[in-house]
Amino acid sequence: MNIFVTGGTGYIGSNTCVKLIEAGHNVIVADNFYNSMPEVLDQIKIITGKTVKFYETDLLDAEGLDKIFEENEIDCVIHFAGYKAVGESCQKPLKYYNNNITGTLNLLFSMRNHNVKKIVFSSSATVYGNPETVPICEDAPLSTTNPYGSTKLFIENILKDISKSDEEFSISILRYFNPIGADKSGYLGDNPVGIPNNLMPYIVKVAKGELSCLNVFGNDYDTHDGTGVRDYVHVSDLADAHIKAVEYIADKKGCFVHNIGTGVGYSVLDIVKTFEKVNNIKIPYKITPRRPGDIATCFANPEKAKKELSFTAKLSLEDMCRDSWNYAKDK
Ligand code: UFG
Repeated sequence: MNIFVTGGTGYIGSNTCVKLIEAGHNVIVADNFYNSMPEVLDQIKIITGKTVKFYETDLLDAEGLDKIFEENEIDCVIHFAGYKAVGESCQKPLKYYNNNITGTLNLLFSMRNHNVKKIVFSSSATVYGNPETVPICEDAPLSTTNPYGSTKLFIENILKDISKSDEEFSISILRYFNPIGADKSGYLGDNPVGIPNNLMPYIVKVAKGELSCLNVFGNDYDTHDGTGVRDYVHVSDLADAHIKAVEYIADKKGCFVHNIGTGVGYSVLDIVKTFEKVNNIKIPYKITPRRPGDIATCFANPEKAKKELSFTAKLSLEDMCRDSWNYAKDK
């Protein structure tokens, strides 16, 4: 298939491009390098031996986007592009609503103009808000606690409305839990600009000595060691889930929602200990107050993805910690 990947040089997008190419698909990428580097394209080529067709295009540029659809026979879109920093989204909500929602609307208009009716959307467990129970199933109540999360939920709703209005659409919504890790080649990983917000990028900066110590945000949660519990999933497994989703909607009409996680929750201190063990590096940490907006526990019920997409995460927490470090240590 010819698959158009928005945000294809980003962390999850680039790992997915590798898997798509390995599965025999023809990949067309658009990115504006807001949160990624042009070198990623060379790295995809080193890993796969194939060059992806690339457009440096912003999704807010509707004409530029339309041109991509004019120049390529696109069968399916995988939509990653979007801003993703929770804290910044609270400071600058309009920036997030404009980029994430307007960019998606432009994409959907281009798809409509060119009769492209298959899309996989990169959603997030953030749409479950503060979950009432865990593990979380796809039919759990939806709510959000920040503008970033709201953009994900709005886009899900837009896609559901499109599916209702046009039975020819095939839509896959993937709700990711906490992606970490990197491609085993050591090339494609998470390398955020500035001081990281997320746990694993922060840990690797401490491991490199660029930050002095990890702040563990609270040890008084109702969890096995008091620190926050999340469902960490290896980015290569997550990338595989996209291949399964593309295959799943290839011959089905409608809108389908799947959790992508392992179904297992690990605490912040579990991550620290595993990282230390597999990489043989000490991670100094101190307990600090809870981060506003954080929840105690969040992990997936992954059964629907297993049954319908034949997707099961294969890589362990050890793999995730080792690959994250293998990627980050020389950056
Ligand atoms: N944490 C720390 N110290 C840090 C960073 C994080 O203790 O420096 C803790 C958090 O309190 C939390 C856990 O590590 O308990 C994971 O935090 P992350 O920031 O890595 O991830 P979140 O679960 O907060 O959020 C992630 C994504 C969001 C997404 C959400 C969906 O960043 O985009 O998962 O579940 F919406």
